[in-house]
Amino acid sequence: MLLHWYDRHRRRLPWRAEPGEAADPYRVWLSEIMLQQTTVAAVIPYYERFLSRFPTVRHLAEAPLDDVLAAWAGLGYYARARNLHACAQAVVAAGGFPRDLAGLRTLPGIGPYTAAAIGAIAFDLPAVPVDGNVERVVSRIAAIETPLPAGKPAIAAGAAALGEDPDARARPSDFAQALFDLGATVCTPTRPTCALCPWREACAAQRLGIAETLPRKAPKPERPLRRGVHFWVTDGMGRVLLRRRPGTGLLGGMTELPGTPWREAPWPEAEALGHAPIAADWRPAGQVRHGFTHFELILDLFAAEVPVIEAEGLLHPVDTIGEAALPSLMRKCVRMAGRR
Ligand code: ADE
Repeated sequence: MLLHWYDRHRRRLPWRAEPGEAADPYRVWLSEIMLQQTTVAAVIPYYERFLSRFPTVRHLAEAPLDDVLAAWAGLGYYARARNLHACAQAVVAAGGFPRDLAGLRTLPGIGPYTAAAIGAIAFDLPAVPVDGNVERVVSRIAAIETPLPAGKPAIAAGAAALGEDPDARARPSDFAQALFDLGATVCTPTRPTCALCPWREACAAQRLGIAETLPRKAPKPERPLRRGVHFWVTDGMGRVLLRRRPGTGLLGGMTELPGTPWREAPWPEAEALGHAPIAADWRPAGQVRHGFTHFELILDLFAAEVPVIEAEGLLHPVDTIGEAALPSLMRKCVRMAGRR
C-alpha cells in the first residue's frame, strides 16, 4: 500500500536515486548528516554546493578541514562537520562504507538513526530509520499516546513491526524513504491530509479522530538564556576585524566578530568594553538573538571605526563579508552591526 503510493508520489531529491538506479552511499550519508539538523528545503542548496566541491568521499577525506568547515558554514552544529571529515577519512582508509549496521555505527558521527538510514537507503538492509517524520507516522498508525520522549521505545517497536511487512522486507530502501515522504507531505504535523493517505484504513489515530494531536510531547524545559557582547570594528581600508574561535566547543574553529564569553549574567557596558579588541570610541550597534539547542543567546553589539587596527585576528574586506565562512549567528551580527 505505502510502496504503491511511493511509486506514484515519491519526491525527487538531489541525493535520491531514481527508480532502478543504485543509491550512492556517499550521497546518502552526506544527506543524512545534513538532514539531522535542518529541513529538506534548507539542506538542498548546501548539499548541492558541498557535492560539487567534494564530489566523492575521497575528495572530502583529502580536503583540509578548514575547507570542509567553510562549506558547512551556516548549517550549524560544527561538530558534525568535523565528524563528517573524520568519517570520510575512516571510510577511505577502509576502502568504502561498511555494508552492515554494526560496521556503520563504528564510524564518527554515525549513531543508531544514521546507521539505520544509510543501511536501509543505500544498502537495502532491513532497517527502519526513525526520525521525526517516522515518529509522527508511527505514533499515529498505532495511536501511541505516551508523550515523547517516554513514548520512544513504543514508537521504535511500532516502526520495527511495520518493517516486518513482506512488502517492506522486499524493498527496505524505498520503504524507509516512503515513510519520510509520507511524513513530510501527507502525515504532516498540523492538518494532515488523511483523505490522501495510503494507510488511512489502517491508521488507529485517524479512526479515533486524534491524528493531529500525535505524537504527544512532554513540555520542554525552558532553554536558559545567555548573553554576550561582540564588536564590529573597521579600519581605514574598509576591513573588519574577525577572529577564530577555539578549535573545540560550540562553533569550534569558526570565524566570529571578537567578543566576550557568553554567560548568564548580562554584561555591564564597562565590563564588556574590557573585552573589546582595541580601545576605540565604541557605540551601541543593536542586538541579535539566536537559538542554540541548549540555550538561547542574546548578543549586544558595539561598533567603531579606526584608521588602523592593531589587534590579533584577521582583517576581512567589508564589501565581501557576505562570502566569508561565518556561522549563522555571526551573519546576523554582521547584518545588524555592519548594516548589510
Ligand atoms: N529525512 C531524513 N532523511 C531523509 C531522506 N533521505 N529523504 C527525505 N527526508 C529525509
